[in-house]
Amino acid sequence: MAYQTLTVELDDYVALIRLNRPDALNALNAQLLSELGTALNEADRNEKIRCIVLTGSEKAFAAGADIKEMSTKSFVDVYTSDLFGAEIDRITATRKPIIAAVSGYALGGGCELAMACDFIICADNAKFGQPEINLGVMAGIGGTQRLTRFVGKSKAMDMHLTGRFMDAAEAERSGLVSRVVPAARLVAEAVAVAKKITEKSQVAVMAAKEAVNRAYETTLREGILFERRSFQALFATEDQKEGMAAFLEKREPQFRDR
Ligand code: HXC
Repeated sequence: MAYQTLTVELDDYVALIRLNRPDALNALNAQLLSELGTALNEADRNEKIRCIVLTGSEKAFAAGADIKEMSTKSFVDVYTSDLFGAEIDRITATRKPIIAAVSGYALGGGCELAMACDFIICADNAKFGQPEINLGVMAGIGGTQRLTRFVGKSKAMDMHLTGRFMDAAEAERSGLVSRVVPAARLVAEAVAVAKKITEKSQVAVMAAKEAVNRAYETTLREGILFERRSFQALFATEDQKEGMAAFLEKREPQFRDR
């Protein structure tokens, strides 16, 4: 499928999706988010894809929702369309793992988009922020909730109320990102991490992703029960037998997603 606001490349079993609105620092408009939803749907359906990397340009992952597109909207417009609500939910509904590879600015909706992915690897030039407060509004696609869960109330409140940016070192220190790599190697490193994931049993990967994400949705007790049942269910797979036999036989496992 041909897209106007993003590109999709396949690298072995990894789909590399690059946001591509360079004139607007990849600002998220309706077209981009709709195309991203379609690309993710296709990746989820395509058996050859086992992991997804979402990235932008070196200067910007995404500098937020498109301010030009939003500026004239009324309350009724954004309420009745639930502006970008369904679009961001589509991202979190993706069954396959999505790694956000962030270089440069990830601001406002761009920071929220990165946080809606399963984890974030960033370049050493990354800058995260929720500067909506400077526009007379606030985060609207998960930023107050997800950033608070990632970095805690104090830093989240600081970022949402002052609009300040967080650099890569602070983002790693605060638990917002899993790794920081040199900007020139960001995409290669993120794809290498994705390829590692593609070597695992896809059943176990999906179950683990679901269980970790459940930690954000439920109580500790319910989450632990969910994890326990998922762990137990994996003993119904051939991949569990294969993985454990391979360990005991001192060889690499051959997972078949069964
Ligand atoms: C539309 C944007 C944009 C945005 C940048 N551009 N961010 N267009 N929406 N969010 C455009 C600029 O207008 C400019 O176009 C071009 O991209 C380059 O940007 P510059 O500002 O010239 O670049 P620079 O001086 O390097 O500054 C980079 C920047 C700055 C610090 C990232 O662009 C900036 O502050 N952008 C806005 C960040 C922001 O407030 N994001 C939150 C948006 S609200 P022209 O045509 O002039 O060259 C949001 C709400 C989410 O995200 C919830 C939705 C439901």
